[in-house]
Amino acid sequence: MARKAFRGDLVWTERPGDFRFLEDGFLVISDNVIESVSERAPDDAEILDFRGRIIIPGLYDIHMHAPQYMFAGLYMDEELLTWLDHHTFPSEARFSDISFAEKAYGRFVEDLKNSVTARASIFGTIHTDSTLLLMSLLEEAGLPCFVGKVSMDRNSPPDLSENTENAVEEELRFLKETSRFTLEKPIVTPRFIPSCTDDLMRNLSDIAREENLPVQSHLDENQSEVEWVKELCPWSRSYADAYDKLGLLSGKTIMAHCVWVNDEEMELLKERGAWVAHSPSSNMNLSSGVAPVRKFLDMGINTGLATDVAGGSSLSLFRMMTDAITSSKLRWRLQDSSLRPLVFSEAFYLASRGGGSFFGKMGSFEPGFAADILVLEDTSVSTVLHDELSLPERLEYYAYRTPDRRPVAKFVDGRRII
Ligand code: GUN
Ligand code: FE
Repeated sequence: MARKAFRGDLVWTERPGDFRFLEDGFLVISDNVIESVSERAPDDAEILDFRGRIIIPGLYDIHMHAPQYMFAGLYMDEELLTWLDHHTFPSEARFSDISFAEKAYGRFVEDLKNSVTARASIFGTIHTDSTLLLMSLLEEAGLPCFVGKVSMDRNSPPDLSENTENAVEEELRFLKETSRFTLEKPIVTPRFIPSCTDDLMRNLSDIAREENLPVQSHLDENQSEVEWVKELCPWSRSYADAYDKLGLLSGKTIMAHCVWVNDEEMELLKERGAWVAHSPSSNMNLSSGVAPVRKFLDMGINTGLATDVAGGSSLSLFRMMTDAITSSKLRWRLQDSSLRPLVFSEAFYLASRGGGSFFGKMGSFEPGFAADILVLEDTSVSTVLHDELSLPERLEYYAYRTPDRRPVAKFVDGRRII
């Protein structure tokens, strides 16, 4: 059994709001799984010496769109529905061209590899072959992800649309082809209710249930979208209820955004064990609003952080932590004084163990968790107060000041990928 010990300044969270940390400690892993955190070097382990550096668990981006990375930082002056029509759909249509996809996805995967994200749940496009290519590139980079071929058969431009039968056939072909991957896993990905007929949704739900697959989609992001769904699904009590009645809401479902969820929808998410992908940057950029993330935490709804690139312009989960905190303050001050703002340890929990739990036992240094480990260098970019700071304060400073800095090392399942 190969044992290794990472020596450095260890910080992690096991519950929201409660940092655990150990300066100059040893994180012992065996068989690529966390064994213990120790003050002393274990006798029989290979030591990886990262003294003076911050060592944290992997961070997890539970909702993003790989084809949109090329325009992250552009087109920020519209709300969701016109942004989709004017920019997103025409951009995604370009991925029918596999050589274009190779160029765009090559750059995306290179940047994701050098980011603080250990694993992600990713939307491709409706194009099966481009999406498979994305999975090959992620596999080559050593990033284990859930990747979905997007399904859409209504309210979409002709060059980014499938008919229902074709969408089901292509989904099945996609799933069959993904069996060649070791690290990459497929996820059933109906874009959102406005893009998918009830018939397609029911077919996808049957496939997900029969093949025991996870599902990802969008829920309650924008007020016009919510109104539209009321018209499209007059038989439902709410947007969340529509997904539920179509068989798509379970403990293996990620719903992005949930900005405008009502109490009944939150109860339903909680009951089903579904995951909320809180995407604070995107929600500000597209003027969607601020999700009631404090309520999600208080209710024990499964919640993680997400960039929602290219609604979010940054790939950095540190940036998502600080945007989650900042936006929660605005909601508290301007909209809802009963919802206390997030503090840094809670935001860190959401990006690590919170979202990580969607992938399994991930995002913490508790025994039995996957050896997803990030090593950060902060001394050269720190404040003159550096020597007075606690370890969580050093991490907070890093998150606010250098969110895009490349980690000095990144391990996923104990494998070094940078
Ligand atoms: N809802 C449906 N599609 C999308 C998308 O691509 N981005 C965001 N932010 N919301 C969506
Ligand atoms: Fe999205």
